Amino acid sequence: MKRIDTAEELRALLAEWHPEGDRIALVPTMGNLHKGHLSLVELAKENAERVIVSVFVNPTQFAPDEDYERYPRTLDKDALRLSRAGADVLFAPAAEVIYPNGIAQATTVTVPDLSAELEGESRPGHFAGVTSVVCRLFNICHPNLAVFGQKDFQQYVILKRMVKDLHLPVQLIAGPTARDNNGLALSSRNGFLNKDQQINAAVIYQALCAVTTMLEDGDRDFTALEHSAAEQIAAAGLEPDYISVRDADDLSLPSEGSTHLVVLAAACCGTVRLIDNVVVELPV
Ligand code: PAF
Repeated sequence: MKRIDTAEELRALLAEWHPEGDRIALVPTMGNLHKGHLSLVELAKENAERVIVSVFVNPTQFAPDEDYERYPRTLDKDALRLSRAGADVLFAPAAEVIYPNGIAQATTVTVPDLSAELEGESRPGHFAGVTSVVCRLFNICHPNLAVFGQKDFQQYVILKRMVKDLHLPVQLIAGPTARDNNGLALSSRNGFLNKDQQINAAVIYQALCAVTTMLEDGDRDFTALEHSAAEQIAAAGLEPDYISVRDADDLSLPSEGSTHLVVLAAACCGTVRLIDNVVVELPV
């Protein structure tokens, strides 16, 4: 596996790959890789001949009061894991490579409306940071496809919108959420939880599963379902931010007849903000 940190070096490698006609997959990450990321690399390998994994802790998607500084940076360990997982390239650029004009002067890419809802309501500017960096990564890496985790469901829907709206020639694929034995969705932020918090945080997935069961049983009182899930999460000592039943295609509010749904949740466990979701397919 090659470790590359400049756009020029990556472009030179792409030029070597180009005549071979290989499909290139990109797995964008912020590092501190866990089983969930490695399953995305696996999915990338199943769908492409060449796999680039980017590791870049993107400053523009963190608000000033968020955990950018303390976000875990474990590049050497990540490199080892990626090389064992069979990635071709670890692309780990510095901020100056991604934002050559500096962050204050950077061109931004924003998907309107949806970026201001749910996660966007609690984290203003977060999704503009995500779309701005992912668009740059696509322009540098020229992937045929890119793989993202379903755990960041809203991010995935927003990126699909960006790709369609900007006619970007890249196919997006979502990989399933990897979970601990108790159901807690794997996240780099789980490392900030102590043992008790890790046990308590599993309530988020339990509450999502309870809503799923009620939906499957025919319950369509979305608001009541959201309230009872929030109560279940609060009873375990977490602070729920939102629980929302949405249409899984575009995150619009569902109607009684909607059959392709997603239940999204965000809650704070101490100072750690956690998100999760479950997709629910109902019979037509
Ligand atoms: O999901 C993430 O880890 C990040 O938001 C991403 C897509 C790598 C952009 O920084």
